[in-house]
Amino acid sequence: MTSTLIPLLRQRRSQYVLGRDLALPQDEVDALIRETIRLTPSAFNSQSSRAVILFGDAHLKLWSIVKETLRAIVPAANFASTDTKIDSFAAGAGTVLFFEDQDVVAKLQHDYAAYAENFPIWSEQSGGMAQLAVWTALAEVGIGASLQHYNPLIDAEVAATWGLPASWKLRAQMPFGSNEAPFGEKTFMDDAERFHTFR
Ligand SMILES: Cc1cc2nc3c(=O)[nH]c(=O)nc-3n(C[C@H](O)[C@H](O)[C@H](O)COP(=O)(O)O)c2cc1C
Repeated sequence: MTSTLIPLLRQRRSQYVLGRDLALPQDEVDALIRETIRLTPSAFNSQSSRAVILFGDAHLKLWSIVKETLRAIVPAANFASTDTKIDSFAAGAGTVLFFEDQDVVAKLQHDYAAYAENFPIWSEQSGGMAQLAVWTALAEVGIGASLQHYNPLIDAEVAATWGLPASWKLRAQMPFGSNEAPFGEKTFMDDAERFHTFR
């Protein structure tokens, strides 16, 4: 296979041991993330995906919001593992917050009523494509990342902290940074159970 994409997809893994030693300047990482999302397809070219890219103190603020939100609901006796996990994300260089703009979805539902039920689904699918694309683009430049979901617990405080529109629905958080540990083993189910090809 002469694909250049397959090795990149193989290179994209969940990295949970992050550091701040990025090989690229923050501006280049920021531009890479923006362009990757800009080029990701969306239903009716609706471009419903939004992103907030956090570095430095803003990145630390996000993980402080997550930690304090969880501290209020996780029993104190069980909090130590949560605390350690949140610290491992904060140890990275930045975080991408992925949103889907619900105003875009509502307008599509209004304008194309026959597809109304599909637009929320297509918005989610498009957001997932953007997440994979960013994760892979970061992997290509040697940046490790993982995909986290502390929404909806943190939604209100995130929106208030960064003054985000009410229509932006938080869908995922992607902490990223230098790869500070090898990736874990990954197993794959039998192809025969997943794929059929007919000719
Ligand atoms: C839709 C989706 C949701 C995920 N949610 C989480 C999550 O909340 N926390 C987490 O640590 N990993 C999450 N993951 C990462 C998966 O666990 C991981 O991609 C999978 O185990 C394969 O490992 P790999 O990423 O190293 O290839 C998610 C992945 C996907 C595609």
